[in-house]
Amino acid sequence: MKRKDLLGLKDISADEIMLILNLAKEMRARLDEGQHKSSELVGKSVATLFYENSTRTRISFENAAKALGASTSNISAESSSIKKGESLIDTGRTLQKLLTDIIVLRHPCSGAAHLLANNLDIPVINGGDGTNEHPTQALLDMLTIYKSLGEFKGLKVVIVGDILHSRVARSNIWGLSKLGADITLVAPCTLLPAAAGKIMDCKISHNLSEAAIGANVIISLRVQLERQKYGLFPSIGEYHKYYGVTNQILYKADSNVLCMHPGPINRGLELSGQAADGESSMILEQVTNGVAVRMAVIKLLSGGLR
Ligand code: CP
Repeated sequence: MKRKDLLGLKDISADEIMLILNLAKEMRARLDEGQHKSSELVGKSVATLFYENSTRTRISFENAAKALGASTSNISAESSSIKKGESLIDTGRTLQKLLTDIIVLRHPCSGAAHLLANNLDIPVINGGDGTNEHPTQALLDMLTIYKSLGEFKGLKVVIVGDILHSRVARSNIWGLSKLGADITLVAPCTLLPAAAGKIMDCKISHNLSEAAIGANVIISLRVQLERQKYGLFPSIGEYHKYYGVTNQILYKADSNVLCMHPGPINRGLELSGQAADGESSMILEQVTNGVAVRMAVIKLLSGGLR
């Protein structure tokens, strides 16, 4: 891959996405065969720099780097000199001088990954910036679809939930639409960006029961209560009744529907326990695909490393 950084799927081509997905598929096959260690990136160092909590993204980047033979370091805002007032750029430049080869950044501000990438010579991978993008989450979602259904063109994909605050939704919309999927966003008006459907190539619905009919993929999003400044729906019960993914919703979809969620799940809110644990659920498969996708991204961005 020619680029220095992976900051989002808005600015990368369909060919680059397929390059990552095909390599990730190979990585996943290696993991399934029990090959959890290689020496491809011995001597390289990957740092996760996280200003927000994470389980899946941070640990899968760490395990992906280790599986390629790289060393890892984890810097969290809570336990580093960030607490003493050090700026993002100063922290990044310090990590670069500490012989870090790649930085994975998670930050609550949209655009933080671009700012860091523009100020460093080493690759920066966006591990989620505010409500902007979470490209490796969308890539692992796409790998899950690709491995199960074999293609994207014409697939009916429903993305339901807190679209307004979701960087996962944005990255999936950019990525899936480039590969020809037919996307419908489903949410109450209060959880949809005002211009959704005009800026992005997708349909809009406020009725999950209707939108789910014949769907090949249903991606349910976490309701991001921590990013909501005031109540955007009347109650958890009402939200679940109209926008929760349940077995009743899955029965309306295609018989091979993939039920997906980026995690962490709020059971009983955006997803029923039966749907989360049922036959259609791909949620744990997504988690393992996250390691494979991050191996592929680290490897591709490592092309020009010292
Ligand atoms: N899906 C996702 O980004 O999960 P984490 O917040 O646990 O990394």
